[in-house]
Amino acid sequence: MQLIIINGPNLNLLGKREPEIYGNSSFEDYYKTLKEDFTNIDLHYFQSNHEGEIVDKIHEIGFSFDGIIINGAGYSHTSVAIADALAAVNTPAVEIHISNVYQREEFRHHSHLTKNCIGIISGLGLEGYRYGIDFFTKNKK
Ligand code: DQA
Repeated sequence: MQLIIINGPNLNLLGKREPEIYGNSSFEDYYKTLKEDFTNIDLHYFQSNHEGEIVDKIHEIGFSFDGIIINGAGYSHTSVAIADALAAVNTPAVEIHISNVYQREEFRHHSHLTKNCIGIISGLGLEGYRYGIDFFTKNKK
């Protein structure tokens, strides 16, 4: 099974960025634990601060991979292009937010991505990514 985690802008600064909201762990460290725990999965990781690069990555893997675990970060709230890319490909996606976006500013309550994802995990911290992976492993078509 081939899965990919796609992280949007500023998530490269996890561990340093607003730790009271996003925690103290870098994504690279967390990703290492995921790789160790899911040795049976071909798990990939992509992060970009650039909208078009995220669109390109979705196109690249979206006709062959089994699942996308995507945290669009700030682009979730603004990007019609990333939402359209998710709709354009065959690979299903689960949307992740580390924080509970519904407890935060109003502008974070809407994500353009949600309607093109199977579901959304928000507010469970970094472990949300693990639950997204679990979902795909347990619901393999
Ligand atoms: C986030 C929530 C977004 O509102 C924010 O812009 C992010 C991270 C989260 O993981 O909680 O960058 O997607």
